[in-house]
This record gives sequence, C-alpha cells and structure tokens, in this order.
Amino acid sequence: MGRQAGNGASHERAAVKGAGEAGGERPENAIIGANGAGKSTLLRTIAGLHSPTAGSVLFDGTDVTRLRPEHRARQGIGMVPEGRRLFGSLSVEENLQVGGTYARQGPWTMERVYETFGWMRERRNQSAGQLSGGEQQTVAISRALLANPRVLLLDELSLGLAPVVVQRIYGMLSQILAAGLTVLLVEQDVSQALRVASHIHCLLEGRTTLEGTPARVSADQVEAAYFGLAAAAAPSSAPEGSEP
Ligand SMILES: Nc1ncnc2c1ncn2[C@@H]1O[C@H](COP(=O)(O)OP(=O)(O)O)[C@@H](O)[C@H]1O
Ligand SMILES: [Mg+2]
Repeated sequence: MGRQAGNGASHERAAVKGAGEAGGERPENAIIGANGAGKSTLLRTIAGLHSPTAGSVLFDGTDVTRLRPEHRARQGIGMVPEGRRLFGSLSVEENLQVGGTYARQGPWTMERVYETFGWMRERRNQSAGQLSGGEQQTVAISRALLANPRVLLLDELSLGLAPVVVQRIYGMLSQILAAGLTVLLVEQDVSQALRVASHIHCLLEGRTTLEGTPARVSADQVEAAYFGLAAAAAPSSAPEGSEP
C-alpha cells in the first residue's frame, strides 16, 4: 500500500481523535465514501485487524498501533464488521459468546442482550445462518456490545438490508447508545449517515476530502467529495464551535 497507506494512517489518527472527542448528545462520527474509498480499511486499522505501513493509531491519547486486536478490544475498541461476519453454522448464543471473549467490565451481559432482544433468547439455539439479514445484523451489534466497548466501529450496517430494516436498526441503535458509547460509523448510504451523525468525514482513495457537521456541508459538497469532483478540493471551512 506504500505511501498512500501512510496518508491513510494519518486520517486514521484523526478519525479516532475525532471520535474520542465527540462527547455530546450525538457522539456519532460518520465516514462516508464510495465503494473502494478505504472506509473498511480505516476501521480495520483502528481495530488492529490491519497494520498501517506508516502513521499511528491513537486511542484516548495512547498509541495502540502495536497492540493486537484482542488487546484493543480490552482497551475498549469494538467493531461490527462489514457483512456482519457471523459464524453461520454456530448458534446465535455461540456467536454472542465470541463477543464476550475479550470483554471489559460494563453494562452489557448476555442477560442484558436477551432482555433487550427477547427474540434472541427464544432463538438462541438456532444457527445464525438461518436468521434474516436484519436479525443477523442485530446479533453482530450485540456481539460487539458484549465486549463493553468505549468506541464502537460500525461498518455499513445498512448493507444488503431493506430500507425499513435499516431504519429499525438505526432507531434501535440510538436507544442503545444513549448510554454514552462513542460511535464511528461507515456508511455508503449518505443520507442515513447525515441523519445520524454529529460529524462526517468523506473519504476518497484513503484521504479525507470533506469534513464537517451535517448542517454545515451542502449536498453539492458531499456529492463532489464523494465522487472526487473538483469542487471537493476545498474542504468545509466551518470554524470550530460555530455550529448554530
Ligand atoms: N490508505 C490506503 N492506501 C492504499 N490502499 C488502500 C488504502 N485504504 C484502502 N486501500 C485499498 O483499497 C481497497 C478498498 O478498500 P476498502 O477499505 O475495502 O474500501 P471501502 O470499504 O471504502 O469500500 C482495498 O484493496 C484496500 O486495500
Ligand atoms: Mg467497506
């Protein structure tokens, strides 16, 4: 990945920093970008599943670049990977147990997951591969919550799901996240990202081409940044702390 990966890594640092700093009512930072922009690579690098060739990943001011993924999980970095990545032949409960392997102390236990999602308790012995896409996504989110993360990385929750299911999942998330968890989410569904995020970063070829609050970036700016059109060269100039 050479030089570009180095550039990517510096954005990785910026993204973690941004996510950690956002502590307001909507602590969701969203990364948007076209297919192949480098969104998943960025999240995987933060979670430790991918090593940057240059740059570093800072988490709460600590350099975690050399930590293995399980140690980052213990520090509080959790992830719902693109495509959910459940073990289809294992049961719902066995998939959830994976999330508890490197768990921190915190509010999320198996019991709490079952209290929150009654259907999961009823179907805990069913193989995960038999669930619908939306149900699988909910299991994948629950698996990540069971590690009691401080920052939750969400990679394309909407992928392959019907709009009504996407709405339900994001609605459920905002309730769950009221507990003060910080979220860094990746979405190709730009309107969804703009709806839920307090701050967006648009990635193109591993670089941030636009960032700002949803209220401060225009649809034209987003479109230009997303597709790499010339107008995107000037990132949003919204001054810090000047939101309405
Ligand atoms: N910073 C980067 N420098 C060089 N190559 C990158 C970088 N980020 C991602 N890539 C490569 O680009 C391709 C698409 O990346 P990916 O993260 O899957 O994109 P997305 O999730 O946005 O669709 C992958 O082959 C990945 O290795
Ligand atoms: Mg991806």
